[in-house]
Amino acid sequence: MTAQIIDGKQVAAEMRAELKEKVAELKTQGVTPGLAVVLVGEDPASKSYVTAKERACEEIGVFSNDNRLVADTQEEDLLALIDKLNKDPKINGILVQLPLPKHIDEDKILLAIDPAKDVDGFHPVNVGKMVVGQDAFLPCTPHGIIQLLLRSNVKLEGAEVVIVGRSNIVGKPLASMLIQKSPTGNATVTVCHTRTKNMAEHVKRADIVIAAAGWPNTITADMVKDGAVVIDVGVNRVEDATKKRGYRLAGDVDFEAVKEKASLITPVPGGVGPMTITMLLYNTVQSAEKTLQ
Ligand code: GUN
Repeated sequence: MTAQIIDGKQVAAEMRAELKEKVAELKTQGVTPGLAVVLVGEDPASKSYVTAKERACEEIGVFSNDNRLVADTQEEDLLALIDKLNKDPKINGILVQLPLPKHIDEDKILLAIDPAKDVDGFHPVNVGKMVVGQDAFLPCTPHGIIQLLLRSNVKLEGAEVVIVGRSNIVGKPLASMLIQKSPTGNATVTVCHTRTKNMAEHVKRADIVIAAAGWPNTITADMVKDGAVVIDVGVNRVEDATKKRGYRLAGDVDFEAVKEKASLITPVPGGVGPMTITMLLYNTVQSAEKTLQ
């Protein structure tokens, strides 16, 4: 079987068109959704993510407020900036790009963001609400994956899902969302991680494999059941002398081989990535809408 490619760019474009209309409607009611983006330091991957997020805001009419701070910014200065953004009525969402430099306590920073503006869904209040199934900002990458699956007509109810990776940003929240008693959940979920004894045996059972390990070729064709749906969350820079920039992007899945066994597969780039940014816009627009309620 050769897999059909799930085109994340196309699904993201559809959702962004829907959001653009919603933003236009909000503007007629006097509300322009605003997102503050905070980047500390010069990490090249973080810089390109932040630029992409700001561009996406512009495209749909969301106001973006750019805050780029030097790498040796003190924790108290970052906390002061967050306090200012928490109080600013023009700002509906605050995104602090992770990872932060080592001298800054990431947990303390995430805790300082007003949960009502936590469009990343990383504040413990939002994480807790999500786990117990209450209304909350859902973290963007897991929510984007669920939207990709639903919009590709993949049945979640009763599906065996195997997630590889237990990060706070992807693996843990995705597992929680997929086991909710809800049409966007109802799956049976296994989470594999670095201490899992026989990852391949788990992955072989999966109707849906979600690779979020952060390592190229974590998922090889021999591990994948015929006809499985494969979602690749990995964005790895792999050295490649044939490329002008010296590297190419690769996911966590051996794409060329796995696409011959899967029924549906996401590419890297162009799969999950565009959805993550789209769900950030979704949360920002939702936050702005709430100011009218
Ligand atoms: N770093 C990697 N992914 C993310 C994300 O979704 N949000 C933030 N804030 N930082 C990240």
